[in-house]
Amino acid sequence: MEIKKVGVIGCGLMGHGIVQIAAQGGFDVVAFEADAGALEKGLGRIDRSLSKLSSRNVEKGKMTEDQAKDWVGTTRGRIEGSTDKAALADCDLVIEAIVENLDIKKSLFAELGGIVKDSAIFASNTSSFPIKEMADASGRPSQFVGLHFFNPVQLMRLVEVVRTDDTDPAAFEAAKNFGTACGKQAVACKDTPGFVVNRLLVPYMVQAIQMLDRGDATKEDIDAAMQFGCGYPMGPLTLTDYVGLDTTLSILEGWVDRYPNEPAFSIPESLRTKVAEGKLGRKTGEGYYAWEGDKKQ
Ligand SMILES: NC(=O)c1ccc[n+]([C@@H]2O[C@H](COP(=O)([O-])OP(=O)(O)OC[C@H]3O[C@@H](n4cnc5c(N)ncnc54)[C@H](O)[C@@H]3O)[C@@H](O)[C@H]2O)c1
Repeated sequence: MEIKKVGVIGCGLMGHGIVQIAAQGGFDVVAFEADAGALEKGLGRIDRSLSKLSSRNVEKGKMTEDQAKDWVGTTRGRIEGSTDKAALADCDLVIEAIVENLDIKKSLFAELGGIVKDSAIFASNTSSFPIKEMADASGRPSQFVGLHFFNPVQLMRLVEVVRTDDTDPAAFEAAKNFGTACGKQAVACKDTPGFVVNRLLVPYMVQAIQMLDRGDATKEDIDAAMQFGCGYPMGPLTLTDYVGLDTTLSILEGWVDRYPNEPAFSIPESLRTKVAEGKLGRKTGEGYYAWEGDKKQ
């Protein structure tokens, strides 16, 4: 299975980054969005990112001005924007990066099953839903994987490649090779909740919130402990504010619903309260900390 042409559905925060790294990796890419305004916004983000990257390469002496211009032109030339799903028909791999709503994702894959050529592989960038449910909806479960990239896609080096019991090993290998060709460290994981990273990270954030709620330590001390004791770039409560309290809550609610007997999945009371109050973290100016833009108060 050779992947040459890739479709990316949704050109938002994650999708625009996936489009860009795929083009940088040498693939032809169709960037699909629901409407022209969203598409223009996503392509604009890619243009700004490519221009920033190329300037940095020139500053570091890795490229001359001419080489940088060529690189931007060639990379951008591989990307075709579209609001017509028919443009995805001959893609070898189609990656979905739309809103985190399982019903919407399932109906999208059901529709794509009838549009995109039979040999194509489908992938979802979901952070929290079972890959199998989308694979079944697509009508081609053997050609379905998870490709879970991290934010910001252009900078984060990891992609989790997720297989279900039905995934054809050749489709899995092709998807993994695609991740590697995009410059990522590709790790393989079964279709389990949170895959590797979120399965470890989210319960860790929950434990930190519960320590705070019990009054075991202050938020500053919990964060300092993990930063200076473990060498993490930020502590768990700062991280929760970065991820967004609403996103964290919605991942946990999905897990608690599906796996009520898993003790690692529980919802701290303060998380529910803060979300209900609209305190969603850095993006709203308050979560576990108060924020002014990117700065904790
Ligand atoms: N934000 C993160 O840190 C992160 C990390 C890893 C994975 N994810 C996952 O990636 C996916 C996308 O998240 P995001 O943060 O990029 O969201 P986003 O809201 O920034 O982008 C979603 C984009 O999809 C478009 N869209 C929505 N429905 C569509 C449809 N039916 N057809 C075409 N386009 C449609 C929207 O216009 C929007 O541009 C989600 O499944 C999320 O769980 C997010």
